[in-house]
Amino acid sequence: MSTTEPAPRIAVIGGGQLARMMAQPAVALGVPLRLLAEAEGVSAAQVIPDRMVGDYRDLATLRTVTEGCSVVTFDHEHVPTEHLRALAADGVIAHPGPEALVHAQDKIVMREAMARFGAPQPRWAVVGSAADVEAFGLPCVLKVSRGGYDGKGVWVVRTLDDATEPLAAAEATGVRLLAEELVDFRRELSALVARSPSGQAAAYPVAATLQVDGVCREVVAPAPDLDPALATSAQELALRIAGELGVTGILAVELFEAVDADGRPVVYVNELAMRPHNTGHWTQDGAVTSQFENHLRAALDLPLGSPAPRARWSVMVNILGGDDPAVGRLYDGYPHALARDPHLRVHLYGKELRPGRKVGHVNVYGDDLDDLLEQARHAAAWFRGDLGNESE
Ligand SMILES: Nc1ncnc2c1ncn2[C@@H]1O[C@H](COP(=O)(O)OP(=O)(O)OP(=O)(O)O)[C@@H](O)[C@H]1O
Ligand SMILES: [Mg+2]
Repeated sequence: MSTTEPAPRIAVIGGGQLARMMAQPAVALGVPLRLLAEAEGVSAAQVIPDRMVGDYRDLATLRTVTEGCSVVTFDHEHVPTEHLRALAADGVIAHPGPEALVHAQDKIVMREAMARFGAPQPRWAVVGSAADVEAFGLPCVLKVSRGGYDGKGVWVVRTLDDATEPLAAAEATGVRLLAEELVDFRRELSALVARSPSGQAAAYPVAATLQVDGVCREVVAPAPDLDPALATSAQELALRIAGELGVTGILAVELFEAVDADGRPVVYVNELAMRPHNTGHWTQDGAVTSQFENHLRAALDLPLGSPAPRARWSVMVNILGGDDPAVGRLYDGYPHALARDPHLRVHLYGKELRPGRKVGHVNVYGDDLDDLLEQARHAAAWFRGDLGNESE
């Protein structure tokens, strides 16, 4: 037997930062990745040498990129279901598989499934006209069932006039619209689990996430002051969803923490993601096994790694491009940011700074939550270019 006997190769569809961050544990595990990137030079294409450029909507391209790979997984959720079934017939198994993935692709399909097995969720309905929206009741939230991200495709509707744009957007794209009650949540939580094909599962501590304008800004794990019984039930809910839907790999369940009519704390399912998720980036440094490593382990049906935290608290803050890209600094920000806090862990995605664009994040972990928040926020603001410009 050769001493360099190769490990099974994993195909990854999509060249964003999630695929890029899968490359790190793949290197450590000695597992080769093959990437399908949407263009030369995108985030993951900078770090995965075995790659091709092509369109994930084209079956022939998917067949080419997965040739010689045991399994295929994803940086995003948009690969058509029928293509994944065709690949499975060729012997290339997708993790997550098409039957599970559809619940992360289509919010109406997801709502129907949550209703089927009694997962707590906001009141919702499919709507197709202003009259439907009026009958559902205002205020409400309208969402396109497919294709939304980072708050694009989500509208808070307080008057019937506010419904005009989402109704037109749905009509123009042929996508169905979902109405949800406007949840008066205390905060947003994320229950992150990994599940392998043979059914082993691991649950990370439930994290609190701050979204601004529909974009994740900060994550704290575990969620401060979270009722322990609610934390356990959120983890159990995520494990149950993963099992019921047959999810393989990482499942992130975005939750609203609210109080019910009797004043008791409750969680409601907002949406599902079936890939490493922004709310789990803290695990790269703050957990024994990162979400990216457990996603790969699950894809290969290897035993999962411990999701245990390394410290009492972990904080992640996203680095977003500022309003004026000219004042942002990424590599140039290192001397100050790294000198100010030797505990800071920086993750940059190899993307150009553009207003509002996620270009990286910082992680810190330790005992003093206020200190950690200050350190991570300062570093993210520094990279964004919001601090220290006056001295230049
Ligand atoms: N029913 C609701 N009630 C109150 N706020 C909501 C509701 N649904 C969504 N929101 C707010 O809008 C944000 C974005 O909604 P959602 O997660 O459904 O959209 P998305 O654009 O697909 O998000 P992502 O970027 O996570 O894929 C939520 O994180 C939450 O802050
Ligand atoms: Mg969301």
